[in-house]
Amino acid sequence: MKKGYQLLTTIFLILLVFACKEEPKPRIKFPTTDLSKANMMPKPLKIVATNNAFGLDRYTAIYTTKGAAGFESVGNFLAKKIKSKIDLDIPVNSESQEPVERVIYINQSDSLDLETPEAYQLYINQDSIILNSNTAEGAFRGIQTLRQIIPEISNDTLAEQKIWPVPSGKIIDNPNFEYRGSMLDVARHFFSVKDVKKYIDLLSYYKINVLHLHLSDDQGWRIEIKSWPKLTEVGGSTEVGGEAGGFYTQEDYKEIVAYAAERYMTIIPEIDMPGHTNAASVSYPFLNGNGKPLKLYEGMRVGFSTFDTKKDTVYSFIDDVVREISEITPGPYFHIGGDESHVTKKKDYIYFVNRVEKIVQKHGKRMIGWDEVAIANVDSTSISQWWASEENAKKAIKKGMKIIMSPAKKAYLDMEYDTLSKHGLHWAAYIPVDTAYVWTPETFGNIPRKNILGIEAPLWSETISNIDELEYLAFPRIIGYSELSWSTKENRDWEDYKIRLANQAPFLDRMDVKYYPSKLIDWKKSKHTYEIIEKD
Ligand code: ACM
Repeated sequence: MKKGYQLLTTIFLILLVFACKEEPKPRIKFPTTDLSKANMMPKPLKIVATNNAFGLDRYTAIYTTKGAAGFESVGNFLAKKIKSKIDLDIPVNSESQEPVERVIYINQSDSLDLETPEAYQLYINQDSIILNSNTAEGAFRGIQTLRQIIPEISNDTLAEQKIWPVPSGKIIDNPNFEYRGSMLDVARHFFSVKDVKKYIDLLSYYKINVLHLHLSDDQGWRIEIKSWPKLTEVGGSTEVGGEAGGFYTQEDYKEIVAYAAERYMTIIPEIDMPGHTNAASVSYPFLNGNGKPLKLYEGMRVGFSTFDTKKDTVYSFIDDVVREISEITPGPYFHIGGDESHVTKKKDYIYFVNRVEKIVQKHGKRMIGWDEVAIANVDSTSISQWWASEENAKKAIKKGMKIIMSPAKKAYLDMEYDTLSKHGLHWAAYIPVDTAYVWTPETFGNIPRKNILGIEAPLWSETISNIDELEYLAFPRIIGYSELSWSTKENRDWEDYKIRLANQAPFLDRMDVKYYPSKLIDWKKSKHTYEIIEKD
């Protein structure tokens, strides 16, 4: 109550100080707008429209709660995105004497209504927008919603200056699942830091908060390990199809982690083992456990490689790798892969996963593995990522583990849309845009809701080698996965989603995203007429 009062007083004073400097302007009469029909993706929990508008214009300023950690950066992020969307400069926490008639106030609130760190409330009135959140993370999610409802085109007939009417009303929002992710396989084909940053920026616009990087596989090792330099010198030199491969230095990786952190996104590193390890074993042959001669591999087969699970030196090596990566990974998770170890004996596999789980825990991380890891004696704090086996998912639940839902036939971004798809595979299914959206992770496979950590859409890269091809497979389907993981079941509806998805086209075009223009969607044409200064 006290805080709310302080906030209103602050806003009143800001407006009063500036209003006194100018003749009062007549109130603008906005054409009716309807917030409930605005183009928000994913759909917020509650929307109440009041059919007026906030007049975003050059007399608008952004203020953030003084001293609240991260809030000013969120304000600056919003100002930058407004500038790139509509070429309007908005000051943030400015004390200059320029006239201000309207404020966007990003407010740190301890209200109990804000249930989780990512919850936020938006109150949009004619002269103020108040964004309440408990944390800067929640404020960051809230400004994505705001970005989405700022119109691209100004109304130039309401006043002397250009005005972008933002539909008024109230939005109360909170995520359905705390874990909302995508995976990018940078091992089968390598993707540059620039490409990964672009993907992160796009994902964060849709409130996705996890990017899992598949950093090693048979065809390539992609992260510098200082104590084992041949992993990248040798193992990083190839990729599927025989191109040159590549790898991230630790500095590159830190740059990705920091870029993600600015968007409140967690990076999860994956080192896949004991299978999918040909590139590592070619670099250091003592690791090899399949008894066959080693050479670099540029094909697409799986299941032929394994670490030697019996040697202590292999575990010392893994300890170094997990330690070096964990030291530069602020997030709580480390993914050990564990899938498709077809040439590792079952008892050796179990022994291996048990031992590696302890290594991961020793370095302060929580282990994630593909669903096979549940056959080992894993801890209830470890997490199983369901991709193929319902039986393994059930085993994980018996052990009290949380599950990340990534069933391949519903959530794999590398599955072809249909028989005409330019890229992708179809071993699990064809996944057109509607199939990707119309399923219910909350009840899929009867996994109890309390065991579901969230949803992740993996993008394997056997058939894609550049950002355009990445975008072709990821977009638009990843937008559907964002809604499946953020919005409640009651708020999801294909007919309604289809329209909001069609309306993403101007944003995707502005961002130069080469999305797959599925015929199921009546894509809206981009209408912006102003010059773009910087990409959104
Ligand atoms: C997987 O697709 N092998 C996890």
